[in-house]
Amino acid sequence: MTRASILSLLLLGGCAGIQTPLAPHGDQANSLFGLLILTVVVGAGIYALVIGFLGWSTRRETNQRTKPIVEPDDVGLTRGLWIWAAIIVTGLTVLITASFLAERSLASARDRETLRVSVTGHQWWWRIEYRDPATGATIETANELHLPIGRTARIELGAADVIHSFWVPNLAGKLDMIPGRSNSIDVTPRKLGWFRGQCAEFCGAQHAHMAFDVKVETPAEFATWLAAQARPAATSTDPVMARGLEVVTQGACAMCHRIRGTSAIARPGPDLTHVGARRMLAAGTVRNTRGGMQGWIAQPQALKPGASMPAVPLDPADADAVSRYLESLK
Ligand code: CUA
Repeated sequence: MTRASILSLLLLGGCAGIQTPLAPHGDQANSLFGLLILTVVVGAGIYALVIGFLGWSTRRETNQRTKPIVEPDDVGLTRGLWIWAAIIVTGLTVLITASFLAERSLASARDRETLRVSVTGHQWWWRIEYRDPATGATIETANELHLPIGRTARIELGAADVIHSFWVPNLAGKLDMIPGRSNSIDVTPRKLGWFRGQCAEFCGAQHAHMAFDVKVETPAEFATWLAAQARPAATSTDPVMARGLEVVTQGACAMCHRIRGTSAIARPGPDLTHVGARRMLAAGTVRNTRGGMQGWIAQPQALKPGASMPAVPLDPADADAVSRYLESLK
């Protein structure tokens, strides 16, 4: 890699990436980005002053070697110390005030009308629950968060096993997900499109494979998506689909997964009612294509060693039927 390409990667990665706090696209991320820039500016300013004076003092010493550097009642020294103290106190006061204001702005969305979403961290995936605005029923999905643009979402965070941390750097700061405790973070997205979230607290062997997609949509798109998620799984009379459904509901899959509208009702693993509509599988590990689905079912421990998903050996016809069926669950 050339130096220019590394530099452009850093800059573009920072300014255009979908997983970076340097490209804020949410109110909360904006506040934190402002605080970051201010901290860097104040810190760099004080650093430059210290280095500048250090250089100056070493030169001064060599020029004046014969004279003692500090006189007992040196007025200049006392004044210098006061100036330094003032600079440091000013810098700290600016940072503390800015930090206080940023904290206030993070909490300012508290009074607004919000969308409530519950996200629970599992080793190593995300259970996501919305409330159906029509019926009040819970709508469950996994590993893909949809948010309407311009509206504050209060995301209630929990954990099922160990401590995880919820982090979508383009939209907001990060917050721990602690077993037995409910935390909440507000997110007000301001840009349409896909962003990437990542678990930010080491939670075991597959911590790095605990990511999720975030899609910021228009309110109409979001309402359509939520209504689709609320529906039970699609049914089909196609014999291949019927075979896929049979294998999933009669076999090992139904021990851990739920597909609403079928006899699969287990909840330890991700809800698969609309798994075909998701972009990724296994919390950002595998692309959700038919091949990706077949590979994940056949060899989950090769793709994500230690995950709770066991290999499910299927003959080729059944593997094809299952992946076609799951793909059809939009
Ligand atoms: Cu969950 Cu790291």
